[in-house]
Amino acid sequence: MATLDLSAHLKEAKKHGPQARGISDMARSLVGSEILRIAGEVKAFAAQGNKVLDLTVGDFSSKEFPIPQPLEEGIIRALKAGHSNYPPASGVIECREAVRQMFERRLGLGYPVGSVLIAGGARPMIAGIYYALCSPGDKVVYSLPSWNNNHYCTLVGAEKIEVPTRPESQFFPRAEDLAPHLGQARLLCLNSPQNPTGTVIDRDALSQVCELVLAENKRRQQAGSPPLYLMYDQVYWMLTFGGVTHHTPVSLYPEMAAYTIFVDGISKAFASTGLRVGWAVGPTDVIERMSAILTHLGAWAPRPEQIATAELLNNGPAVDSYLAQMNRNLFTRLGKLSGAIEALKGKGWNVDCISPQGAIYLSLKIDLRGKKTAEGKLLRSDEDTRKYLLEEAGIALVPFLCFGLAEDTGWFRASVGAVSLADCDSFQARLTGALEKLS
Ligand SMILES: Cc1ncc(COP(=O)(O)O)c(C=O)c1O
Repeated sequence: MATLDLSAHLKEAKKHGPQARGISDMARSLVGSEILRIAGEVKAFAAQGNKVLDLTVGDFSSKEFPIPQPLEEGIIRALKAGHSNYPPASGVIECREAVRQMFERRLGLGYPVGSVLIAGGARPMIAGIYYALCSPGDKVVYSLPSWNNNHYCTLVGAEKIEVPTRPESQFFPRAEDLAPHLGQARLLCLNSPQNPTGTVIDRDALSQVCELVLAENKRRQQAGSPPLYLMYDQVYWMLTFGGVTHHTPVSLYPEMAAYTIFVDGISKAFASTGLRVGWAVGPTDVIERMSAILTHLGAWAPRPEQIATAELLNNGPAVDSYLAQMNRNLFTRLGKLSGAIEALKGKGWNVDCISPQGAIYLSLKIDLRGKKTAEGKLLRSDEDTRKYLLEEAGIALVPFLCFGLAEDTGWFRASVGAVSLADCDSFQARLTGALEKLS
């Protein structure tokens, strides 16, 4: 058959611009990912033959961090057994039951299976929560830096209430920062271990937030108004180290079960970002609406992946040994970066970091504003610092500016999911070399 060349028609259509083409207000106001822009720049720099220590990607190299073998084998087995059709809307029952049991065994939380929804990763769960709870104009509170809450607000037309945080509180919001904003809010979003900071909210800080939510909901119950909900994104919760413990709102205050929706999945804990299995756990009325919404989006997790995830979660020893190795590998890599920063800080450089606590990230401060490069260029911003570190040291980082911050702070995210131990070993020499060239 002869092929019709459509490129001229498509080019002509694009020429008129999104508004003239009738692209919706919402779609036009969605901003592109800054992280992807930086990742593209890093790739282009590496393609010119430069050796880059790429600490930008929030993903894993499958060579450095392979998925659990039982998961791989389970997927292949399930596919060969013919599991190639639509899964049930709320997820394959074995997978929902495995998540339910895992919450019971590992978090001490006794939910019914109706509280568990399975879909294609953590993202659909977040979207489902926003769509199920927020009408246009409703207020959503989250702290900065934050991973993607701004985009989900745009998606549902919610009003963003962004609460800045400080390194002293591990970049988590303090109860007194949140308190003035909760009275009008529909949804409060917390993420721990946190992207981009690699920090874990401590028991006291989380308790205080729960107390605020419970007090607010008591007030609303008396007034007969709908509650304030908490989205608790714990997608990195199995990745904690350095003696840090993950806490949940519902274990601290069981009454929080009525208002908390957990977001979770296999993407991070099992280095399985491309397999797309996530779950939400929460009050059944909210979960049931989320399931209805996600059904229309077709956001199911593939059936073989759900079956294999169920088998993996039911295999406690396999999960334990995989996580032990995963956490060791992450902690060693993050430790090399933080050790280098501590050493340079000790020598008087304006650098800092927060000791690794969880996830695959390290918060590091490299504040070079006001310094001059060997070529006489003044570094004025975090973006200047980022570019300088890439071009001079071959170190690729993501500034916290990409996570909603309005101003430069000198803080960056380093992600170790895609780098080897040897790569991390090169960090100190690379950074030292670049710092020493500044005046
Ligand atoms: C905090 C947080 N939540 C959710 C997600 C999304 O996970 P998934 O790949 O399962 O959609 C990410 C991915 O980077 C994340 O960092």
